[in-house]
Amino acid sequence: MSQKEGGDRISGLVIEAIDLRKAYSLGKLQVEAVRGVNLKISFGDFVALTGPSGSGKSTLLNLMGALDRPTTGIMLIGGADISEARRDKLVEMRRRIGFVFQSFNLVPRLSARENVELGMNIAGINRNARRTRAEELLMLVGLEDRADHKPNELSGGQQQRVAIARALANDPQLLLMDEPTGNLDSGSTQSIMALVEQLNRNNHLTIIVVTHDWNIAMGADRVVCMLDGVVEKELFNR
Ligand SMILES: Nc1ncnc2c1ncn2[C@@H]1O[C@H](COP(=O)(O)OP(=O)(O)OP(=O)(O)O)[C@@H](O)[C@H]1O
Ligand SMILES: [Mg+2]
Repeated sequence: MSQKEGGDRISGLVIEAIDLRKAYSLGKLQVEAVRGVNLKISFGDFVALTGPSGSGKSTLLNLMGALDRPTTGIMLIGGADISEARRDKLVEMRRRIGFVFQSFNLVPRLSARENVELGMNIAGINRNARRTRAEELLMLVGLEDRADHKPNELSGGQQQRVAIARALANDPQLLLMDEPTGNLDSGSTQSIMALVEQLNRNNHLTIIVVTHDWNIAMGADRVVCMLDGVVEKELFNR
Protein backbone atom coordinates (compact mmCIF):
# COMPACT_ATOMS: atom_id res chain seq x y z
CA MET A 1 0.00 0.00 0.00
CA SER A 2 1.41 3.39 -0.89
CA GLN A 3 1.66 6.23 1.60
CA LYS A 4 -1.06 7.99 -0.37
CA GLU A 5 -3.55 5.21 0.29
CA GLY A 6 -2.25 4.64 3.79
CA GLY A 7 -3.90 7.68 5.37
CA ASP A 8 -2.28 8.89 8.56
CA ARG A 9 -1.09 12.04 6.85
CA ILE A 10 0.30 15.04 8.64
CA SER A 11 -2.35 17.76 8.56
CA GLY A 12 -3.28 21.09 10.12
CA LEU A 13 -0.40 22.36 12.14
CA VAL A 14 2.60 20.48 10.83
CA ILE A 15 5.17 21.73 13.29
CA GLU A 16 5.08 23.46 16.61
CA ALA A 17 8.14 24.29 18.65
CA ILE A 18 7.58 25.42 22.23
CA ASP A 19 10.52 26.88 24.13
CA LEU A 20 12.73 24.55 22.17
CA ARG A 21 16.34 24.20 23.26
CA LYS A 22 19.24 22.17 22.01
CA ALA A 23 22.65 22.18 23.69
CA TYR A 24 25.71 20.29 22.57
CA SER A 25 28.45 19.48 25.03
CA LEU A 26 32.00 19.52 23.80
CA GLY A 27 34.01 18.34 26.78
CA LYS A 28 33.39 20.95 29.44
CA LEU A 29 32.02 23.45 26.96
CA GLN A 30 28.27 23.70 26.45
CA VAL A 31 27.11 25.14 23.15
CA GLU A 32 23.50 26.25 23.15
CA ALA A 33 22.69 26.00 19.47
CA VAL A 34 18.95 26.60 19.91
CA ARG A 35 17.95 28.66 22.95
CA GLY A 36 14.19 28.93 23.30
CA VAL A 37 12.51 28.82 19.91
CA ASN A 38 8.74 29.17 19.58
CA LEU A 39 7.45 28.56 16.09
CA LYS A 40 4.30 27.27 14.41
CA ILE A 41 4.26 26.03 10.86
CA SER A 42 0.98 25.13 9.21
CA PHE A 43 0.13 22.73 6.42
CA GLY A 44 1.00 24.30 3.07
CA ASP A 45 3.39 26.93 4.41
CA PHE A 46 6.52 27.80 2.48
CA VAL A 47 9.03 29.00 5.05
CA ALA A 48 12.58 30.26 4.58
CA LEU A 49 14.91 30.00 7.56
CA THR A 50 17.75 32.51 7.39
CA GLY A 51 20.38 33.95 9.67
CA PRO A 52 24.13 34.14 10.07
CA SER A 53 26.40 31.11 10.17
CA GLY A 54 26.18 29.41 13.56
CA SER A 55 22.77 30.92 14.42
CA GLY A 56 21.20 27.47 14.80
CA LYS A 57 19.36 27.00 11.50
CA SER A 58 20.55 23.46 10.78
CA THR A 59 20.09 22.45 14.40
CA LEU A 60 16.49 23.68 14.31
CA LEU A 61 15.83 22.03 10.94
CA ASN A 62 17.17 18.71 12.26
CA LEU A 63 14.82 18.96 15.23
CA MET A 64 11.90 19.72 12.90
CA GLY A 65 12.78 16.59 10.92
CA ALA A 66 13.03 14.31 13.96
CA LEU A 67 16.69 13.76 13.08
CA ASP A 68 17.61 14.90 16.56
CA ARG A 69 15.90 15.34 19.93
CA PRO A 70 15.69 18.61 21.83
CA THR A 71 17.52 19.04 25.14
CA THR A 72 14.40 20.65 26.62
CA GLY A 73 11.15 22.05 25.28
CA ILE A 74 8.59 20.54 22.98
CA MET A 75 8.85 19.74 19.29
CA LEU A 76 5.55 18.61 17.85
CA ILE A 77 5.59 17.10 14.39
CA GLY A 78 2.12 16.32 13.12
CA GLY A 79 0.93 16.44 16.74
CA ALA A 80 3.51 13.98 18.09
CA ASP A 81 6.20 15.17 20.49
CA ILE A 82 9.60 13.94 19.36
CA SER A 83 11.22 14.43 22.74
CA GLU A 84 8.93 11.75 24.13
CA ALA A 85 8.95 9.45 21.12
CA ARG A 86 10.76 6.15 21.05
CA ARG A 87 13.51 5.58 18.53
CA ASP A 88 11.37 3.45 16.21
CA LYS A 89 8.68 6.14 16.24
CA LEU A 90 11.28 8.72 15.22
CA VAL A 91 12.37 6.51 12.34
CA GLU A 92 8.77 6.22 11.23
CA MET A 93 8.26 10.00 11.46
CA ARG A 94 11.38 10.64 9.38
CA ARG A 95 10.01 8.39 6.67
CA ARG A 96 7.11 10.77 6.21
CA ILE A 97 9.40 13.76 5.75
CA GLY A 98 11.54 14.55 2.71
CA PHE A 99 15.09 15.81 3.28
CA VAL A 100 17.33 17.67 0.84
CA PHE A 101 20.83 18.86 1.72
CA GLN A 102 23.47 21.07 0.17
CA SER A 103 25.57 18.06 -0.83
CA PHE A 104 23.26 15.99 -2.98
CA ASN A 105 24.25 12.70 -1.28
CA LEU A 106 23.51 10.55 -4.32
CA VAL A 107 25.03 7.08 -4.64
CA PRO A 108 27.66 7.47 -7.40
CA ARG A 109 27.37 4.01 -8.95
CA LEU A 110 23.58 4.12 -9.24
CA SER A 111 21.54 5.73 -11.99
CA ALA A 112 19.21 8.64 -11.31
CA ARG A 113 16.25 6.25 -11.31
CA GLU A 114 17.96 3.82 -8.91
CA ASN A 115 18.84 6.68 -6.59
CA VAL A 116 15.19 7.72 -6.48
CA GLU A 117 14.11 4.11 -5.87
CA LEU A 118 16.51 4.00 -2.96
CA GLY A 119 14.42 6.67 -1.23
CA MET A 120 11.33 4.47 -1.26
CA ASN A 121 10.03 2.63 1.70
CA ILE A 122 10.08 -0.61 -0.24
CA ALA A 123 7.86 -2.66 2.03
CA GLY A 124 5.05 -3.91 -0.16
CA ILE A 125 6.10 -2.13 -3.34
CA ASN A 126 7.17 -4.47 -6.12
CA ARG A 127 9.98 -3.76 -8.52
CA ASN A 128 7.86 -2.58 -11.41
CA ALA A 129 5.84 -0.24 -9.22
CA ARG A 130 9.07 1.21 -7.79
CA ARG A 131 10.43 1.79 -11.23
CA THR A 132 7.23 3.44 -12.44
CA ARG A 133 7.07 5.66 -9.38
CA ALA A 134 10.73 6.68 -9.80
CA GLU A 135 10.08 7.58 -13.43
CA GLU A 136 7.04 9.65 -12.48
CA LEU A 137 9.12 11.53 -9.91
CA LEU A 138 11.92 12.15 -12.40
CA MET A 139 9.30 13.54 -14.76
CA LEU A 140 7.99 15.79 -12.01
CA VAL A 141 11.47 17.28 -11.56
CA GLY A 142 12.02 17.53 -15.32
CA LEU A 143 14.59 14.74 -15.67
CA GLU A 144 12.68 11.99 -17.45
CA ASP A 145 15.37 11.88 -20.15
CA ARG A 146 18.18 11.41 -17.63
CA ALA A 147 16.86 8.38 -15.75
CA ASP A 148 19.78 6.16 -16.76
CA HIS A 149 22.48 8.73 -16.08
CA LYS A 150 24.82 8.31 -13.12
CA PRO A 151 25.35 11.34 -10.84
CA ASN A 152 28.71 12.17 -12.47
CA GLU A 153 26.91 12.38 -15.81
CA LEU A 154 24.58 15.08 -14.48
CA SER A 155 25.05 18.77 -13.73
CA GLY A 156 24.89 19.99 -10.14
CA GLY A 157 21.39 21.33 -10.67
CA GLN A 158 20.29 18.03 -12.19
CA GLN A 159 21.81 16.08 -9.30
CA GLN A 160 19.88 18.22 -6.87
CA ARG A 161 16.69 17.50 -8.86
CA VAL A 162 17.37 13.79 -8.45
CA ALA A 163 17.87 14.37 -4.72
CA ILE A 164 14.52 16.19 -4.60
CA ALA A 165 12.82 13.34 -6.49
CA ARG A 166 14.33 10.90 -3.99
CA ALA A 167 13.10 13.04 -1.10
CA LEU A 168 9.58 12.80 -2.56
CA ALA A 169 9.71 9.03 -3.00
CA ASN A 170 7.63 8.25 0.09
CA ASP A 171 5.11 10.94 -0.79
CA PRO A 172 5.87 13.23 2.16
CA GLN A 173 3.81 16.28 3.00
CA LEU A 174 6.77 18.05 4.52
CA LEU A 175 10.00 18.83 2.69
CA LEU A 176 12.97 20.10 4.69
CA MET A 177 15.90 21.58 2.78
CA ASP A 178 19.22 22.73 4.20
CA GLU A 179 21.00 25.10 1.80
CA PRO A 180 19.75 23.13 -1.23
CA THR A 181 21.29 25.60 -3.66
CA GLY A 182 24.52 26.19 -1.74
CA ASN A 183 26.56 24.32 -4.35
CA LEU A 184 24.74 25.64 -7.41
CA ASP A 185 25.26 28.52 -9.81
CA SER A 186 22.61 31.21 -10.05
CA GLY A 187 20.87 29.67 -13.09
CA SER A 188 20.50 26.27 -11.43
CA THR A 189 19.48 27.97 -8.19
CA GLN A 190 16.63 29.73 -9.97
CA SER A 191 15.33 26.59 -11.62
CA ILE A 192 15.56 24.55 -8.40
CA MET A 193 13.64 27.24 -6.54
CA ALA A 194 11.02 27.39 -9.30
CA LEU A 195 10.60 23.64 -8.82
CA VAL A 196 10.32 24.04 -5.05
CA GLU A 197 7.70 26.75 -5.49
CA GLN A 198 5.77 24.48 -7.83
CA LEU A 199 5.88 21.66 -5.26
CA ASN A 200 4.46 24.05 -2.69
CA ARG A 201 1.76 25.56 -4.90
CA ASN A 202 0.68 22.59 -7.02
CA ASN A 203 1.62 19.57 -4.93
CA HIS A 204 0.71 21.21 -1.62
CA LEU A 205 3.95 20.35 0.09
CA THR A 206 4.85 22.19 3.25
CA ILE A 207 8.37 23.46 2.70
CA ILE A 208 11.03 24.72 5.06
CA VAL A 209 14.22 25.83 3.38
CA VAL A 210 17.36 27.01 5.14
CA THR A 211 19.09 29.56 2.96
CA HIS A 212 21.59 32.39 2.99
CA ASP A 213 20.25 33.60 -0.32
CA TRP A 214 17.91 36.54 0.10
CA ASN A 215 16.41 36.00 -3.36
CA ILE A 216 15.29 32.56 -2.28
CA ALA A 217 13.96 33.83 1.03
CA MET A 218 11.87 36.43 -0.77
CA GLY A 219 10.19 33.65 -2.79
CA ALA A 220 8.85 32.05 0.41
CA ASP A 221 5.61 33.03 2.19
CA ARG A 222 7.36 33.49 5.51
CA VAL A 223 10.93 34.33 6.38
CA VAL A 224 12.10 33.28 9.83
CA CYS A 225 15.33 35.05 10.80
CA MET A 226 17.50 33.30 13.39
CA LEU A 227 20.14 34.97 15.52
CA ASP A 228 22.19 33.29 18.27
CA GLY A 229 19.82 30.37 18.62
CA VAL A 230 16.55 32.29 18.77
CA VAL A 231 14.04 33.62 16.25
CA GLU A 232 15.07 37.25 15.93
CA LYS A 233 12.21 38.29 13.70
CA GLU A 234 9.78 37.02 11.15
CA LEU A 235 8.74 38.57 7.84
CA PHE A 236 5.67 37.71 5.82
CA ASN A 237 5.84 38.06 2.08
CA ARG A 238 2.20 37.32 1.37
N1 LIG B 1 27.16 18.35 16.68
C1 LIG B 1 27.53 19.50 17.25
N2 LIG B 1 28.33 19.51 18.33
C2 LIG B 1 28.68 20.66 18.93
N3 LIG B 1 28.29 21.87 18.53
C3 LIG B 1 27.50 21.94 17.45
C4 LIG B 1 27.08 20.76 16.75
N4 LIG B 1 26.29 21.15 15.72
C5 LIG B 1 26.24 22.48 15.76
N5 LIG B 1 26.95 22.97 16.80
C6 LIG B 1 27.08 24.38 17.18
O1 LIG B 1 25.79 24.92 17.30
C7 LIG B 1 25.72 26.23 16.75
C8 LIG B 1 24.66 26.27 15.69
O2 LIG B 1 25.05 25.43 14.60
P1 LIG B 1 24.16 25.22 13.30
O3 LIG B 1 24.85 24.21 12.47
O4 LIG B 1 22.78 24.95 13.70
O5 LIG B 1 24.25 26.67 12.62
P2 LIG B 1 23.74 27.18 11.20
O6 LIG B 1 22.89 28.37 11.44
O7 LIG B 1 23.15 26.04 10.44
O8 LIG B 1 25.09 27.65 10.51
P3 LIG B 1 25.56 27.57 8.97
O9 LIG B 1 24.86 28.69 8.27
O10 LIG B 1 27.02 27.81 9.03
O11 LIG B 1 25.21 26.23 8.43
C9 LIG B 1 27.11 26.56 16.26
O12 LIG B 1 27.75 27.33 17.22
C10 LIG B 1 27.78 25.21 16.12
O13 LIG B 1 29.15 25.31 16.35
MG1 LIG C 1 23.70 25.01 8.69
